[in-house]
Amino acid sequence: MRTEMPQVIQLSDYQAPSYWVDETSLCVQIFDEYTDVQARLKMRANSDRPTGSPIVLQGVDLTLQALSIDGVAVANYEVQGEDLIIPAPAATTFEVQSRVRIYPRTNTSLEGLYVSGGMYCTQCEAEGFRKITYYPDRPDVLSVFTTRIEAPKSFKTLLSNGNPVASGELDADRHMAEWHDPFPKPSYLFALVAGDLVDVRDTFVTCTGRTIDLRIYVEPHNRHKTAFALSSLKKSMTWDETVYGREYDLDIFMIVAVDHFNMGAMENKGLNIFNSACVLADPETTTDDGFERIEAIVAHEYFHNWSGNRVTCRDWFQLSLKEGFTVFRDAEFTADTHARAVKRMDDVTLLRTSQFAEDAGPMAHPVRPSSYIEINNFYTLTVYEKGAEVVRMLHSLLGADRFRQATDLYFDRFDGQAVTTDDFVTCMADVSGLDLTQFKRWYDQAGTPRLKVEGHYNAAQQTFSLMFEQFCPATPGQPEKLPFHMPVKLGLMGKHSGAELMFSTDHPGYDATLQTFSLRKANDTLVLRGVTEDAVPSLLRDFSAPVVLSYPYTVEDLRHLVRHDSNAFNRWDAMQTLATRVLLSAVRGAAEADGLKTVLTDAVRDVLVDDTLDHAVKARLLRLPSQAYLAEQYTPVDPVALDKVHTDIRRDLGQSLAAEWQVLYGQTQPEAAYVFEHQQVARRALHRVALSYLIAGDHTAWHLAAELYQQADNMTDQSAALQLWGEVANEAWDEAMNGFYQRWQDDAQMAEQWLSIRATVPRIRVPEIRRLTEHPGFSWTNPNRVRSVIGGFAMRNPVAFHADQGAGYRFLADAIIQLNSLNPQIAARLCTPFTYWRRYTPEIQDAMQTELQRIVAVEALSKDVYEVVSKSLV
Ligand code: PHE
Ligand code: ZN
Repeated sequence: MRTEMPQVIQLSDYQAPSYWVDETSLCVQIFDEYTDVQARLKMRANSDRPTGSPIVLQGVDLTLQALSIDGVAVANYEVQGEDLIIPAPAATTFEVQSRVRIYPRTNTSLEGLYVSGGMYCTQCEAEGFRKITYYPDRPDVLSVFTTRIEAPKSFKTLLSNGNPVASGELDADRHMAEWHDPFPKPSYLFALVAGDLVDVRDTFVTCTGRTIDLRIYVEPHNRHKTAFALSSLKKSMTWDETVYGREYDLDIFMIVAVDHFNMGAMENKGLNIFNSACVLADPETTTDDGFERIEAIVAHEYFHNWSGNRVTCRDWFQLSLKEGFTVFRDAEFTADTHARAVKRMDDVTLLRTSQFAEDAGPMAHPVRPSSYIEINNFYTLTVYEKGAEVVRMLHSLLGADRFRQATDLYFDRFDGQAVTTDDFVTCMADVSGLDLTQFKRWYDQAGTPRLKVEGHYNAAQQTFSLMFEQFCPATPGQPEKLPFHMPVKLGLMGKHSGAELMFSTDHPGYDATLQTFSLRKANDTLVLRGVTEDAVPSLLRDFSAPVVLSYPYTVEDLRHLVRHDSNAFNRWDAMQTLATRVLLSAVRGAAEADGLKTVLTDAVRDVLVDDTLDHAVKARLLRLPSQAYLAEQYTPVDPVALDKVHTDIRRDLGQSLAAEWQVLYGQTQPEAAYVFEHQQVARRALHRVALSYLIAGDHTAWHLAAELYQQADNMTDQSAALQLWGEVANEAWDEAMNGFYQRWQDDAQMAEQWLSIRATVPRIRVPEIRRLTEHPGFSWTNPNRVRSVIGGFAMRNPVAFHADQGAGYRFLADAIIQLNSLNPQIAARLCTPFTYWRRYTPEIQDAMQTELQRIVAVEALSKDVYEVVSKSLV
């Protein structure tokens, strides 16, 4: 048990810093066993703050060797927790000089300066810079950095932010490089790399004709995996110029790939550092999903140069200011680059499956949280994905043109500053004249709002009335909620004609150009006039607000929407609603379950034989909602029973439509060599769906998967084949898997892929998973390997995780306890499955609660794990 309770940080306690740091000069000397960091901070008292305030610098795991101000040694400092407190100097401007020693080789937290493989690299967001030197480590202190790196010559590549200004030899064995970044930045955007790397180069000519030097630095054996990220980078640069008018600012833009990384990637100014799994790609080893993900992450980090770096966050409560906005930007980039409706389906699926769960659980928090114990626990789906939905709603409410004017104003007004989500919304309001006071509740109130709608057609008056009611469930610390300002994009589909119906309305909340109703009240009625026939309303088109919608649709209504809705997203959504209804009725053992299954089969057949549908849309229409998604829809969840229903219905669909699946499988055979482009990607997705139903319907169809595995010329088909084949236990699969490992063990991305396939095979049990953690391909200090094996088992393999009376829970708790001392961030993330313990049947609740108790009793529990576990137990 922790001896002292960790401190809770409150937004309401925010105070501007007492001192600014105008210039920061670092000298980082890398030696074998340790690294010395000398810092010179040109500080200036903040005239808005009381004079005589002490200087407060943060530092963690630093050995202080020297400290002086303007050359005079300081002895009367105090250390309180992470703070180093120095009495106020007499002058208002002065230089703080320090020297510390750090030990990157033993830093397994992967925060601060650490070693990955043979290279040194840094990760400073959110509060990692304090593991490098004493500093006011807060995002509202912006400083111009000059960084000198000294290292043995075996580290050929020495990089930091900004532009290279000097380099040279120090002696026979050591050399140096110096970098200068002219743009003031907070310490979380600092980066440094020292390694034996190769760079692949390209150039980009900006809209004003400046030539930018682009470089991707990788270990030599990864040189062949850089082309895709480079071309994604150039696309992103063009897109940001075209869509947002944002030009790149430095003369050089660098990306470095590292194997050990806690997250996906990091937007350090001019020197992005990427998890190698999120940047390295080639057609032989990367799946279609992998390419799309890499392209989106490269874009995301690049877009941060404006939304995050040029304009940054005042404090960490404002994290969504940069993350929500940047996720919205990368989602739009992907939508413009590939298929808009499909991208929306995938994003909404993630939101509904995982963010809604977070919003309904013990860690629920607003997009702008108001308190935290460990900020690393707030890099969440709520801050990122729901935050992006909030920006998307602003985009819907303003329309594209005014939204662009508002972002121009935002970048212009706040360039070089650290600001808040309020500042962002103010720009939206200033440009549009809209009153967004109520809208801001999206930033403050946690929980997923419920939107209940009913409709009534009056034939005599030709009106269709929509009665809206909104409500938001309580979340921790927020028992009561006020109504949200919700954009509800809608239309009416004629019941008889199947056509989109015209209407007018005098409700001031309806914007006809945007086809969007702004719901502001808890209850409201929208009367649509001139409606010539009864209709099925198509509501919340394109998922115009992140809410749970309910409307008393009959199954016929839903099928009508699947067939006729002019909004592609809502056609898919109607199919999801229908399938969910069928699956849940079977879970409940409801009387109408059998009848509903027939309806589902008919609906699936309709889609299957529809040749007019885009393949990517078709694949998504045919896929059933996942077990994770369904587990969100009811309580108490019995995962084994849920799996049985899911499996039964997939088998039934596989059997009753066997002929159609076969035809589809045949029609979607490859016609050309592998390329990552929409038509092919869509075809492969559909091919996979057909194969999965064929195997679900008849296990002997595994030989199709085996054939696909052997014949495919790409990793998309090969890995899908291995996964589907893995659902059917047989020796041939084991052999194929062994062959795969032999072939690919030296390729990090492939080894991770292999581990992940093993860990997600439904029949795997704890003894084999434990053995997998002893496999040479596994490593407790490599987050990607941990995510593949532990994450795969506990988060993406419900049948296995919940099998054997809690054996899986014990395994997960053991893993969390082990990781707690190695890498607290990763340990805390793995607690997620336990946070949902209250949703399950009583026996599962007991078993999970026991494990949570066992974790919270651990000595030296990190703040990260403590926060998640203790909040879960409340
Ligand atoms: N800021 C990074 C991003 O979303 C994520 C990140 C956070 C990376 C913390 C590392 C550490 O682009
Ligand atoms: Zn980001």
